[in-house]
Amino acid sequence: MSHPGPAPSPLPVSLLDLSGQLGRLAAAALRERFPDAAAVPAELALSPAARPEFGDLQITGCLQLAKPLGQKPRELATLVHARVAGHPAVAKAEIAGPGYVNLTLSTAFIEGCLASLPSDPHHGIRQVHAGQRLVIDFSSPNIAKPMHIGHIRSTIIGDALQRVLRAVGYAVTADNHLGDWGTQFGKLIVAYRSWLDRAAYERDPIGELVRLYQRFVTEEKAQAEALGAAKAPPPPQAAGEGAAAAASNEDDSDEEDSAAVTPLLKAARAELAKLQQGDPENLTLWREFVTVSLREFDKTYARLGVRFDTVHGESYYHDHLAALVEELIAKGVAEPSRGAVVCPVEGAPAPLLVRKADGSFLYGTTDIATIEYRVRTYDPSRILYVVGVPQQLHFQQLFAVARKLGVRCELEHIMFGSMRFRGSDGGWTTGSTRKGNVPLLDEFIDEAVRRARSVAAEKNPELSAADLDEVARIVGVGAIKYNDLSRDRLADMNFDLDKALSLEGNTAPYMQYAYARLRSIARKAAAPGEGDGLASAAALSLREPAERALGRKLLDYPGAVEQVARTTRPHQLCEYLYELAGAVSVFYNEVPVLKAPPAERGARLLLLDRVAQTLKHGLGLLGIEVPERM
Ligand code: ARG
Repeated sequence: MSHPGPAPSPLPVSLLDLSGQLGRLAAAALRERFPDAAAVPAELALSPAARPEFGDLQITGCLQLAKPLGQKPRELATLVHARVAGHPAVAKAEIAGPGYVNLTLSTAFIEGCLASLPSDPHHGIRQVHAGQRLVIDFSSPNIAKPMHIGHIRSTIIGDALQRVLRAVGYAVTADNHLGDWGTQFGKLIVAYRSWLDRAAYERDPIGELVRLYQRFVTEEKAQAEALGAAKAPPPPQAAGEGAAAAASNEDDSDEEDSAAVTPLLKAARAELAKLQQGDPENLTLWREFVTVSLREFDKTYARLGVRFDTVHGESYYHDHLAALVEELIAKGVAEPSRGAVVCPVEGAPAPLLVRKADGSFLYGTTDIATIEYRVRTYDPSRILYVVGVPQQLHFQQLFAVARKLGVRCELEHIMFGSMRFRGSDGGWTTGSTRKGNVPLLDEFIDEAVRRARSVAAEKNPELSAADLDEVARIVGVGAIKYNDLSRDRLADMNFDLDKALSLEGNTAPYMQYAYARLRSIARKAAAPGEGDGLASAAALSLREPAERALGRKLLDYPGAVEQVARTTRPHQLCEYLYELAGAVSVFYNEVPVLKAPPAERGARLLLLDRVAQTLKHGLGLLGIEVPERM
């Protein structure tokens, strides 16, 4: 059958599509000459030019292909060059160095991309994953405890990722896997019945539950000491039990058997057992703890603008765990070990513990049941867990077990490093829930908003009180989020509120101010007697180098978003947006806008409008709002 040849494709309106077209043309040029060479890929990669004088894009593949094709790289580059140089979006193509092909985009192509933006609901981002489902598990705090720094980071990073993943077309299910079924409930029930301060509980329920929990710990310790049985070192573990528990939810390790069991601990265990057997009174109390905690968490989520599709806590899976462990044993995935049941994991330092000797189930057991549920319910292509580095072993074990059970979808632990903040003594600390010195997220936000208010008031004394409140909220919350998102999530970091709120550097206030300034220019342009804003603009046109450079930078936006969707590293989007904001400052220095002659003025206002829309869209994907004035 004769091949009709490639249909003349329309001029693409995105840099990614153009890169694809050019890459396929380049590959086709080589395949024609070397039809039998398996080394020639379907598409040659295009990379950004290393230096501005090299143009916009570079094809470097001829260097790698020279050897397998037995040719000089420059000869291959000549073939490629001949094919891509004629493309209507290419203004200039050159063979350079040992065998690169350097390309300069036509200004008409850049203008065409920018002109198509307003009509594109996806802002140029390709829906590469349309039709694919994905589950993202993030935030997942524990009931009756305040969110600690790990939950804060998980909430911020997870929310940015869910937004980015939706933007590339995934059907996302964001699930808050609440820790609502830990062993802490036995202790809490005892403490609640013994020492509750009703008024304090009504004022600050989580605070009071934390106090009750801590009181339990203190009193229990005192009892243990009185018994003359300060906790003996734990006996030699059932294979891996200690490691497994330490790596996962902290509560799993609470119940080490010590030489003597205090009356308080005995009581707590009895209440826990009653709860797990469905005792109505304990269930009512447990439900109340969940309700009041969730109400507090929801306030925080509302302040942060974070939403979930489902909030299935660990308790949701509880009824399935007994059968699950039997299934694991029957399938040969789990085996008995000194009264307990474990899943051995090759290459991991310890097996995953799924049933303790006393018959109770663990964090990991629930997580296996959760995977089965998610696969059955959503049939996702990926499941992402946004959880800190300390749980690395847990997820390694969990994923290995899931594979043995035949789970096909990608399972990814989206880890992040620890964050230190200033403790009461002024030094850096990560805090500890047990010591009760965790920074409370709400207090964090209050402080950031308060300081943002004074920054904004100083910057713009003309803001009305209502505007000032709004700006302070947007900037304060934005600063906390951006500070977290703008750094590689794997790095450990210090949370420095002064830096996060600075108007200079890669910060939320800098980005938000860049946006507000663009909006202020647009408002001035539209003011009566000032010409008529965008209305008179004939068309977007990029004449000056500063205009072209800014327009060119805008084309990289969809690629930056797709990159984050691929790598799950939101800081790459921050970097792009920061560069874009920088390019606008250069632009302001190089060309006049409001004072430019009418035709240029209109075109520049249009260009700046595209920049403003892109900043807003990009920050929106990070969960960060922008103020219209600042
Ligand atoms: N609640 C857990 C903790 O605070 C985090 C849960 C993460 N998600 C999961 N499916 N294991 O440590």
